[in-house]
Amino acid sequence: MIKYQKKRYNHKEIKAQFPIFNSGDLVYLDSAASSQKPNSVLKSINEVYTNHYANIHRGVYKLSQVATDMHEDAREIVKNFINANSVREIIFVRGATEAINLVASTVADTKIKEGDEIILSRLEHHSNIVPWQIIAKKHNAVIKIAESDENGEVSFESVFKNVTSKTKFISITHISNAIGSIIPVKQICKEAKSRGIYTLIDGCQAAPILEVDVQDMECDFYVFSGHKTYGPTGIGVLYGREEILSEAPPYQGGGDMIDKVTFENTTYAGLPSKYEAGTPNIVGAIGLGSALKWMQEIGMNNIYDHSKNLINEGISILKNIKGLRIIGEPSNRGGVVSFIYKDIHSHDLGTLLNTYNIAVRTGHHCAQPTMERYRVPSTVRASVGYYNNKEDFEALAEGILKVGKVFEKV
Ligand code: ALA
Repeated sequence: MIKYQKKRYNHKEIKAQFPIFNSGDLVYLDSAASSQKPNSVLKSINEVYTNHYANIHRGVYKLSQVATDMHEDAREIVKNFINANSVREIIFVRGATEAINLVASTVADTKIKEGDEIILSRLEHHSNIVPWQIIAKKHNAVIKIAESDENGEVSFESVFKNVTSKTKFISITHISNAIGSIIPVKQICKEAKSRGIYTLIDGCQAAPILEVDVQDMECDFYVFSGHKTYGPTGIGVLYGREEILSEAPPYQGGGDMIDKVTFENTTYAGLPSKYEAGTPNIVGAIGLGSALKWMQEIGMNNIYDHSKNLINEGISILKNIKGLRIIGEPSNRGGVVSFIYKDIHSHDLGTLLNTYNIAVRTGHHCAQPTMERYRVPSTVRASVGYYNNKEDFEALAEGILKVGKVFEKV
């Protein structure tokens, strides 16, 4: 694994790297939905389109070979970022949603039989629920839920009390997008492995702030999206253990995923090409590579420390607001805090905060079962990126109080 040096956080210098903050006084607290992009990522995207662009894996000419090398270098960066064993285990997809659908409709589709069980947690967002429901319905399998407690935690015990001899898959988030809880996925994956249960970890909220080591975690699959890790939209990663993916059926058919095609029969390419049919998101992958490099240059330990300290400071600031209730108090938290304020609907609060140039997410956060568990229809969610600091939470608190005053008058 990469050894990171501890660095002092220089807010001004970091924020200056993000052109979106150049004009105006934007308070952006919605990185859990999508993060902003640093200059180095924007520059690399521009650079490929301007100087190195061609289709990849198909051209004998230099431009195509350079673009191919850049694309495959990005795969190598991803491999190192999560400490996978081989680039063959890194599949570029559109995002985490596609990665989960890919696993469900290839590996799970062939492994799951009638009566088998799939365990999800209460805190999953819809992308880690619906693909499993589709597969469960197809095979008459059963979905079981590892419940979260009042603090918003999903424990090892809560997962394993659902395990039976019929459990085939555990698919669980690393960090809840709605509450922020960090789930003990390493402990869960190791135990699951010893019992022959497949594990998929949804790393959407974790890859942007935690150092991920898939070999140490011993998960079978790990997924994340590029746009939440300071990279472009439309690109994401499926990590899958080679011995599982190499035996699984293909996902989509088309160019690049084949070995030999006749009208009678087709043989497939090896990994990772088998799962990358058609012209891929070439520039997206290269942009993602730049984003992960940017994060590595800062150091994942520094990103995590900043996120942890800031979210704790933010929570202290929010807790001073009378009538504001934080939803979930997990002992281990990512860069996310959800709350409700008085009886003001989250959309009203979010809409009025927008008039002060404060961007937060409102609603059910694509996690309706989580909202149901905490008996709220929706929440306001503030989430941090490396460019945020305490002043953003002070502005948020000031904005909330102003909105409170508006509602007192109506
Ligand atoms: N899953 C994203 C979020 O949590 C979109 O906002």
